[in-house]
Amino acid sequence: MLASVATFGLEGVDAREITVEVDVRRGLPAFTIVGLPDVAVRESRERVRAALLNSSLEFPLSRLTANLAPAWVRKAGPGFDLALAVCVLAASGQVPSGRLESTAVCGELSLSGEVRPVRGALAVALAARQAGYGRLIVPVDNAPEAALAEGLEVLGLSSIGRIVDLLHDRRAAEPVHASEADEAPLATPDLADVRGQADAKRALEIAAAGGHNLLMVGPPGAGKTMIARRMPGILPPPAFEEAIEITRIRSVAGLGGRLARERPFRAPHHTVSAQGLVGGGSHPRPGEITLAHRGVLFLDELAEFSRAALEALRQPLEDGFVAITRGQRSLVFPSQTTLLAACNPCSCGLVPAQCECSATERARYRRRLSGPLLDRIDLVCQVSPPLALQLVGRESPAEGSAEVRERVVAARQRQLRRLAGCPVLSNGGMDGRMTRRHAVLRGSAVQRMMDVVGSGGLTGRGHDRVLRLARTIADLAGRAEIHSDDLDEALGYRLGTVGEAAA
Ligand SMILES: Nc1ncnc2c1ncn2[C@@H]1O[C@H](COP(=O)(O)OP(=O)(O)O)[C@@H](O)[C@H]1O
Ligand SMILES: [Mg+2]
Repeated sequence: MLASVATFGLEGVDAREITVEVDVRRGLPAFTIVGLPDVAVRESRERVRAALLNSSLEFPLSRLTANLAPAWVRKAGPGFDLALAVCVLAASGQVPSGRLESTAVCGELSLSGEVRPVRGALAVALAARQAGYGRLIVPVDNAPEAALAEGLEVLGLSSIGRIVDLLHDRRAAEPVHASEADEAPLATPDLADVRGQADAKRALEIAAAGGHNLLMVGPPGAGKTMIARRMPGILPPPAFEEAIEITRIRSVAGLGGRLARERPFRAPHHTVSAQGLVGGGSHPRPGEITLAHRGVLFLDELAEFSRAALEALRQPLEDGFVAITRGQRSLVFPSQTTLLAACNPCSCGLVPAQCECSATERARYRRRLSGPLLDRIDLVCQVSPPLALQLVGRESPAEGSAEVRERVVAARQRQLRRLAGCPVLSNGGMDGRMTRRHAVLRGSAVQRMMDVVGSGGLTGRGHDRVLRLARTIADLAGRAEIHSDDLDEALGYRLGTVGEAAA
């Protein structure tokens, strides 16, 4: 007898539909799996056999052949166990196969017949809905996550025995509730803790408001890391669709399946490899930039990262996705993130009063920075050590993150209205054409820009970057038109100033 069951296998951060077929016929007892299974899939035979026998079900003493189609796709991991087990049951007449139409099955089995949770349940549920399945059977622990995909009936089951009962209508499925939002992180650090540093905070606010990449340059101990870590607290909370995207990626990476309420903030150490940053491997896994999708990627001590790692970030930062090719397959990982970077002005790591670096040493250090990444950075901001009075004095407390966030949210809403119909959500993502269309200069601002470009102070790329930034500054102020003051402020964050900042 022949039976087939639909399941899904993870491929990057997506799930691909896989059909499991099992053929049971008379012959010497054997169980073969074909269709490019990896070791974990082949070991599935032992788990399925033990799980069925330990659940008082029958494992047919016949010749069993399982095929995982399409046969040219490599199958990895233990997530096919449940589908294989259900398919063996259907092929040996232990469950009615008619009940499996329009139902997809996904889960790992233990030898006792319990169903174990898998990674990427949300990706599976979204793909199942997309492929037109009405019902999805998943491990009970994954059910709340899978139920985030609205419009799909999700059944969470704890053992193979229960699935058999369910398919025989001997037991009704328990209702599943979609995963609750993640609890907010215990204490998101607040901008009010940072004393002084008005310029750096302003730059952070602009970066958050327009999704612009920001580089902070300043001596050690000035508070760069401290300021950067306060970025999540001023970003607008993710919309539901964005939260789904964030959760889906986190779940595939094994970081939990609760609906994300905050945007991700990833701060990889500077020893990270290129693959760790952008993803890859023989079974490609998402890298830090994908884990930071719709949030922030923070590269502290930027100059210490390997050149290969920074080089690898270039294309994903520009395009908003990582393309990985493995054999005949090519995978796409989303990577729409805001880059935050911090570095010292020179390599000695001493405060300015003690630094004895020569001009040549500083220039060499600067050259390391002026690599591929700098053209992706819209804002460069110099962070000086806080003044004694600000640090020691009893200054009235600074503005808190909540107030800044309100302005950021208002500025983002203005951008969303303006960019309706465009594939980007904020000014920072606009390409040259969109910039010209949506960031139009009028009146005295035109003359100001003409003067700057005319004096050779701005390249074509720099011109677009300044326009985007000026658009965000005007959005923060609630202005429909870009004033020449907005333009002046934007010009102050130019790349050219990194030389001065770092010197
Ligand atoms: N402006 C500031 N206001 C309050 N505390 C500060 C400030 N700058 C630095 N600090 C203190 O110094 C510590 C080190 O700052 P850090 O952000 O690591 O500096 P950097 O990254 O520039 O080397 C912070 O954790 C904080 O306790
Ligand atoms: Mg630091």
